[in-house]
Amino acid sequence: MIGIFDSGVGGLTVVREILKQLPDYQITYFGDTARAPYGNKSRDTIIQYAMQDTQFLLNQGAKIIVIGCNTASAIAADALKKKFPTIPFFDVITPAVSASIKVSKNKRLGVIGTRATIDSGIYEKKIKEKHQGFQIFSKACPLFVPLVEENWIKQPFTKVVARKYLYTLRLKQIDSLILGCTHYPLLRDIIQNKIGKKVILIDPAEHVAMDIKRFLSEHSDLEESLSNSQQHQFYFSDITPHLIDLIHKWLGQKINPRLHSF
Ligand code: DGL
Repeated sequence: MIGIFDSGVGGLTVVREILKQLPDYQITYFGDTARAPYGNKSRDTIIQYAMQDTQFLLNQGAKIIVIGCNTASAIAADALKKKFPTIPFFDVITPAVSASIKVSKNKRLGVIGTRATIDSGIYEKKIKEKHQGFQIFSKACPLFVPLVEENWIKQPFTKVVARKYLYTLRLKQIDSLILGCTHYPLLRDIIQNKIGKKVILIDPAEHVAMDIKRFLSEHSDLEESLSNSQQHQFYFSDITPHLIDLIHKWLGQKINPRLHSF
């Protein structure tokens, strides 16, 4: 079984993509809704939460772990790999960086994410480790998460907020932009409009799903333990009627959310 965790419901955008690209595998999702958002928490807290989320999924029988949350990927991926050295981990940042490098022609890349993700400097680090000559321009867009969770995606003030956040990035003449937060693909149209039609938007969910697919094709030994013989499971650390609405909307199907609290 593939274990996927996120700070809350945002990781369902990653689940959706994994279900689309890897329909033959069983997944268990954990959304830490009781402690979300992670994006404005401290490093130590995010690492502690990510460890507990991972341990829970391993206890459920996960054989690989997808860190569906960009913030946890930015802050906790190294600590997780160190703590659980035998488990294959997939973060949502590494494949997005590779995709962005691949499509960029002018080597001017943009990244948007939560404050914790952007302040971590992880994109700059990952890109400069392997690729020279790229310039990275980043911007934290913390208001996007609550706007999306209120379902205010089409409201005029959401466009105003997007213009305010993206105006300076637009001036940098980037040619690709990583949507470095689980919620941002839901604002794709507005972001595209404000950043400019020619900028290629990178959705990390698509690329992490491709990465997992590639990995599994090379690890046939794991295939059996991941196969789709049982139903997918969805756990959350807090469940409210509004959350159930969001879950069904984002996932595009009805599920039976189960409670797991720490
Ligand atoms: N899931 C988080 C991320 O992708 C966004 C929500 C939060 O701040 O927890 O960064």
